[in-house]
Amino acid sequence: MIIRSKKASDISSSEITPPEIYLGRRRFIRDAGLGLATLALSGTTSTNEVAGQSQEIPPRFRNLKSELGEDLNSYRDITTYNNFYEFGTDKRDPSRNSSEFEPQPWTVSIEGHVNKPGNYELDDILAPVTMEDRIYRLRCVEAWSMVIPWHGFPLADLIKRVEPTSNAKFVRFETVHRPEQMPYQKTGVLPWPYVEGLRIDEAMHPLTTLVTGVYGTELPNQNGAPLRLIVPWKYGFKGIKSIVKIEFVEEMPTNTWKMANSFEYGFYSNVNPEVSHPRWSQARERRLPSLFKSHETLMFNGYGEEVSQLYAGMDLHRWK
Ligand code: MTE
Repeated sequence: MIIRSKKASDISSSEITPPEIYLGRRRFIRDAGLGLATLALSGTTSTNEVAGQSQEIPPRFRNLKSELGEDLNSYRDITTYNNFYEFGTDKRDPSRNSSEFEPQPWTVSIEGHVNKPGNYELDDILAPVTMEDRIYRLRCVEAWSMVIPWHGFPLADLIKRVEPTSNAKFVRFETVHRPEQMPYQKTGVLPWPYVEGLRIDEAMHPLTTLVTGVYGTELPNQNGAPLRLIVPWKYGFKGIKSIVKIEFVEEMPTNTWKMANSFEYGFYSNVNPEVSHPRWSQARERRLPSLFKSHETLMFNGYGEEVSQLYAGMDLHRWK
């Protein structure tokens, strides 16, 4: 039996988040006017050496679990086993090949059917939002999973501010195109830039999160700095990284993996143990760092109570 405790989306930031975290580290440093304040406030810290960087993990994460009582994956797992094809196709490539990537300054272009289009500085996007720690399972289509303490805010907060019109039926996201800093964009492993999309009601759902950090620290380059998407009930590839464009469109956008292989990948990509990938079953998953598929995959990645109504009446075998 699964005993549900509080949903991650129900936990208010003030319950678990000190100001340096919910303001966002960059903003907190800016607001405090001195860079050392963050470390001083976080008290005793454990240090993880990852790809030559030292990361301070606030001690409050030590006893946190997911809403299903699962342990969090380590900072090392989360930042050294990645999919970010712009930096290579091996899981270790993104942490090894992304150190030259510059996530600052960063501008996001908001386009399409909205009353307030424009080029927004990331700091201006973040200024009015309340940042939260949100612990979600990430279930990759390759049948591995992790439990990750993301740091971010609901995409809906941003969408409401830019005021979509009634023609905005879908949201289309685009990753930055910088072949000089992202070596695999010089290859044809995928069509570039990476594109993803959501239906507008999926985008407005409170679980859909724009992420700026992990484990209370800034998002490392390999995880999609400085801004990426997390849609916890969908396969991990919907979580587009290093977003520079958010466009409100009338037609369903074609996402990168569907463009690359429409036989294997669809638009919706809801986690569904009953619908196999054409080359493997999706019924079970390997919780990293384990090598074995010891976990049953849950419908909608365990978030069915929150999201199943979005798909009422749809044949989920057909709408992959
Ligand atoms: N975003 C971009 N731009 N490029 C990518 O290759 N990979 C996706 C997604 N976002 C990808 C991307 C896939 S397949 C997964 S499983 C997740 O990122 C992995 O996120 P993580 O490396 O932070 O765990």
